[in-house]
Amino acid sequence: MGWNSWNKFGCNVSDTLIREVADTMVSSGMKDAGYQYVVIDDCWQVSRDKSGTIVPDAQRFPSGMKALADYVHSKGLKFGVYSDAGSKTCEGRPGSNGYEVEDARQYAAWGVDYLKYDWCNTDGVDPKIAYPTMRDALKATGRPIVFSMCEWGRNQPWTWVRGVAHIWRTTGDIQDRWASFTRLLDQQVGLEKYAGPGGWNDPDMLEVGNGGMKIHEYRAHFSLWCLLSAPLMAGNDIRSMTPEIRDILTHKEVIAVDQDPLQQGRRVRKNGDLEVWAKKLTGDAWALVLFNRGETAAQIALSWQELGLSFDAEPAVRDLWAKKDLGKIKGTFVASVPPHDVIMVKVTP
Ligand code: GLA
Repeated sequence: MGWNSWNKFGCNVSDTLIREVADTMVSSGMKDAGYQYVVIDDCWQVSRDKSGTIVPDAQRFPSGMKALADYVHSKGLKFGVYSDAGSKTCEGRPGSNGYEVEDARQYAAWGVDYLKYDWCNTDGVDPKIAYPTMRDALKATGRPIVFSMCEWGRNQPWTWVRGVAHIWRTTGDIQDRWASFTRLLDQQVGLEKYAGPGGWNDPDMLEVGNGGMKIHEYRAHFSLWCLLSAPLMAGNDIRSMTPEIRDILTHKEVIAVDQDPLQQGRRVRKNGDLEVWAKKLTGDAWALVLFNRGETAAQIALSWQELGLSFDAEPAVRDLWAKKDLGKIKGTFVASVPPHDVIMVKVTP
């Protein structure tokens, strides 16, 4: 869990932005809710010096990366950067191809805790060599660094990446639109079996709060990312977010579903626009997301037998967003779900 600059700021990153975001992670309650990593995406780097050392943008980061990492650490948070397995990053900055050992050493010396590693400008590069090469370089520094692979799912990384990266992108880039969120969601179906302790699918960062969707659509996006056990990387300007957006991003019971360490959830039923997604939780409980993609409110039902519970089961049901116990329910759970929204419940036998 953390925050990444790309979705909102693109190349407009700076020392001031990162410090203010770190401050806000603490003051907004995001840190208390579990957000840890503050990650600068593309465009912090400008060149290499004569000895091959990567050079940060001195205008945008005048105090240098070490001082910035120290500041983020002083807030009890962790610090992340971005590079690329090719010759150049997606924005044309120097990539790490051929400089993996130098770059990993430099990151470790700055105090980097997280590396996002992209896949632009990689003609002739084999991902099954490039990603392990950077993994080994990071490991050799002796510093624990989360390795986030951003290869967009091109080479089906889920089938071979366990032990290489901690998280791996499964798709191209998310955009701040309903159609983009639902398209990415559909691409996760079937990938659940590859995720688990030590390695997780990454359906891309959150767009919650960036303005392109309605509040209930962001609630649906956040709920389903939590059901997918996705990395929760906020991608909005948290310095100016509304209380409604903050309440989505920091909802502890919904985040607990994401962080439950057993497995990723999956789609258990689809009837046109009406879907049911379920994630098995520790303690034999389940999280359910009833998801209405349609344009009108609709009833969605799920029988406990579809979850594998016995026909006479009478589990306790709690509405997570409403923070309300619905009591013990027998047989079938039915809820009316507004358009482009979810009902998310925890089911405890
Ligand atoms: C790619 C990645 C994005 C972002 C940009 C930066 O498109 O998939 O998440 O890192 O590059 O240029």
